[in-house]
Amino acid sequence: MISAGIVTVSYIAATILFILALGGLSNQETARRGNWYGIVGMAIALLATIFGVVTQHYAILLVALLIGGSVGILLARRVQMTQMPELVAILHSLVGLAAVAVGFANFMDPTVHFEGVELTIHDIETYLGILIGAVTFSGSVIAFGKLSGRIGGKPMLLPGRHWMNLGLLIAAIWFGREFVIQSAAGDGITPLIVMTVVALLFGIHMVMAIGGADMPVVVSMLNSYSGWAASATGFMLNNDLLIVTGALVGSSGAILSYIMCRAMNRKFLNVIAGGFGTGGGTVASSTEEQGEVVAIDANEAASMLAGAKQVMIIPGYGMAVAQAQHIVHELTTALRAKGINVRFGIHPVAGRMPGHMNVLLAEARVPYDIVFEMDEVNDDFPEVDVSIVIGANDIVNPSAQEEPDSPIAGMPVLECWKGNTTIVLKRSMATGYAGVQNPLFFKENTRMLFGDAKDSLDAVFKVL
Ligand code: TAP
Repeated sequence: MISAGIVTVSYIAATILFILALGGLSNQETARRGNWYGIVGMAIALLATIFGVVTQHYAILLVALLIGGSVGILLARRVQMTQMPELVAILHSLVGLAAVAVGFANFMDPTVHFEGVELTIHDIETYLGILIGAVTFSGSVIAFGKLSGRIGGKPMLLPGRHWMNLGLLIAAIWFGREFVIQSAAGDGITPLIVMTVVALLFGIHMVMAIGGADMPVVVSMLNSYSGWAASATGFMLNNDLLIVTGALVGSSGAILSYIMCRAMNRKFLNVIAGGFGTGGGTVASSTEEQGEVVAIDANEAASMLAGAKQVMIIPGYGMAVAQAQHIVHELTTALRAKGINVRFGIHPVAGRMPGHMNVLLAEARVPYDIVFEMDEVNDDFPEVDVSIVIGANDIVNPSAQEEPDSPIAGMPVLECWKGNTTIVLKRSMATGYAGVQNPLFFKENTRMLFGDAKDSLDAVFKVL
């Protein structure tokens, strides 16, 4: 057992390390260091809690740590880069589940005694912790299902769904009042259970109603919720570190949701209201004849690239699927050695999670100084000779600008068609995540290089 003073000092140290971790993660060059701050902070937090806060039942704790730790290591080792968003979603669900479990356990703990106002405050903390935890849990499970393709991307729009949500909200408030009143009389488990069921249903309904194209916002929103759930649990358990850490996760998730909304030109409330974006892999709009596509082979692509002075590489989800980032790096090095100016244009929602492309390019050691955000390069396309779109689709779809009733209407896109030539690498004419046809493929200055992105780039690299 260590003293309460050492626990407090350790918690402060862990808090500082978590803040440093967030700071580090905001930049690719310092991200690795940021991760280490986070790891060390979490280790300190765990040790201080195990040896300073826990007083009994060490055997159960050890078994739980072993099971949880082994599952975590196994998952982290097995997961493919393309499955990261699903993993993140399912991990959020565990945070929610933990908040619910801790809330019930704390409520039923016979050793926890509060009186008067303190009891009311404690009850509200318990209620909120379970409420947010349950919404996070069921919402994250549905998000996991949608991201992994087990549930279709189509928004489920029940008639009168806004009224239903309002009804659930009023029910949650009413049962909260009931709970506080009954708890003062030594009861309250019934309203608590009813509210948990209501919150679980609300989580399911909320994420089911959100369409494929809005999933990036939902993932970061659930991230935020999981933080607030942890924070409420921290208040309930009187644990400062949990309060602060939860608030850090909650607010950074909220900021990320805001950034995602801005990137997609969407209003947060509209996202929550749902109904935007359709199922993946189907043609949802613009089914009419779009014209001819011009397919080319690796030889032609290589000679176009060799003849260019300005090349823009636009990676998307397909680069992650094909694991083409390493060959992309080799190709970039080869082109730059020929004196060609190669840049990367990264759309904020390219791939399936925030920063997805940056992570892949960093893994392949592509130099950071040629990787640009969309806003930094989008005006430069008229000077670009060749753009290579590597497994991207929605993020280069001109219908976002041209078709007001398109599911992705209004989303900013990389305007590669304004350049001289665009080469699109993909396997077929299938649609992307938002499920809409892409007029870019039919433009007269677009060339399609069909096949797996890695195989195609290998072939182009050999010719070069
Ligand atoms: P998508 O629009 O999903 O398009 C990816 C394209 O890659 C597909 O059309 C697919 O066409 C192609 N592809 C797949 N595997 C390939 C392979 N092995 N080789 C070559 N091509 C391959 O991706 P995007 O342009 O990156 O846009 C991202 C979309 O995901 C947006 O709609 C965004 O809203 C959504 N989303 C983003 C996030 C975040 S936070 N980034 C999270 C959830 C959802 P083929 O099948 O014909 O090959």
